[in-house]
Formats: sequence, structure tokens, C-alpha cells
Amino acid sequence: MTSVTEIAPDVFRISTYDPDGGIQFNQFLLRDDEPLLFHTGMNALFPAVHEAVARLINPAELRWIGFSHFEADECGSLNQWLGLAPNAQAICSFVGAVVNINDFATRPARPMEHDEVLETGKFRFRFRQTPQVPHCWDAGLLFEENNRLLLSSDLFHQNGDVEAFTTSDVIERTRQTIREMEASPLAGYLPYTPRTGEILHGLADLEPTTIATMHGSAFEGDGRQALLDLAGVMKETLAEEPT
Ligand SMILES: [Fe+2]
Ligand SMILES: [Fe+2]
Repeated sequence: MTSVTEIAPDVFRISTYDPDGGIQFNQFLLRDDEPLLFHTGMNALFPAVHEAVARLINPAELRWIGFSHFEADECGSLNQWLGLAPNAQAICSFVGAVVNINDFATRPARPMEHDEVLETGKFRFRFRQTPQVPHCWDAGLLFEENNRLLLSSDLFHQNGDVEAFTTSDVIERTRQTIREMEASPLAGYLPYTPRTGEILHGLADLEPTTIATMHGSAFEGDGRQALLDLAGVMKETLAEEPT
């Protein structure tokens, strides 16, 4: 069952819960003159995501397809979207474009530079290059400046069929999920590198008021503090030697 929730004006969270994995997969449609979809979901999810997008816009008019990194839940159905929307183009990091997308996709991506801004009408998307945050060399994130909304991909991952939107602190759920992942065959999900703290602090400096995560509840509140807390949790749970 796929649900759609408007988490900010013309910002829609499309969410499907996978009971086998105990995990939600969220995509975000930002409805604007040039509509942008952040995360496509996997190929298997395409019919559900397409149906949800069609409730909001004409899918053939999708203009931009953003994602953090090359992974099935981020951009698995990219080519299906490129096939049905003739003006759609992927936007991603330079590394993402030259290493993955320009080979994988049926049309080349538009590479974004660090802090480059893409205007789609009323929305302004600032691109942050975030290598290995949340994971993968090609990782990047988009920050929509007018709503102070961070599209955070796997950052703030919360397992379970949680509510669409919360103003409560999500950091304890995130800490619990990181621990669960590290204790499972999925260990190693989030690396902690010498750059991780600096990248998370840089995202905190954007002072988001909404954090739209791919797996879990969107959070409204002090996003700066949440990111600083996340930096602490990731350092504590991932950077230290296992005992
Ligand atoms: Fe990922
Ligand atoms: Fe993910």
C-alpha cells in the first residue's frame, strides 16, 4: 500500500512499506513548473510510484530526477521514467554521472557541482557533494532553500512502519536502526570516514527545518541540531573500534 502525504506546500512524500524488510521506501515529488522526483524507487516499485505521481502531476511532464547515489532504491527505475517523460533528466554528482549514470541510463545526467543551485520555478535546490555520506563515492544531497528542506536519502533511517511526519526527535530511532543494521547481515551500511563529521556539520550549517528521509518519518524541527546529533551518533556507533 503506497501512501502520499504533503509534508510542505507542493512537497509530497510517497511511501511504501515493505513488511518483509520492516522498512519504508520513500520518494519525494516536488511539484513545480519543472517537477522534480527525488528517488525513483526500485524497478519493482515503479507501478506504485508511477500511480502515486500520476495523482499529483502528469508523469510525462516530469523534468528532473534526483537521487543521492547509485543504488536500486535511489534510482533503480530511472530508465522507466526517462522512457515515459521525454524532457526528464537525472541530476546527480559529477562522480555519479561519469562513473554510473552516463553508462547505465538511456540519457546522460546533468552533473551538479558542490553548492550549485537548480531553480525549478518556486523551488531552489542547492546540491551538496557528500562522498560516502550516507554511503557510496558518488553520494550527494539536495537542499530546497525556500522551504529549508533537506532531502536526506539514507540519513536519519528509521526502521519500521512509522508515521509520515513527526515533530518529535528522531535521533533515538536512528541510533536504534544503526545498531540493528550493524548487528545484521547488512552491517557496514553506513561508513564513517575522516570526512563524515565535516560533511554532516556542513549540512547542519544549512539549518534545515524539514528533513525528508528515504526510510522513516520526515522530521520537522531544528534540523541543524538533529544533524549535529546525528554526527555524534554516527561517530559513537560507527567510528569506534568494535569491542
Ligand atoms: Fe543507500
Ligand atoms: Fe536507501
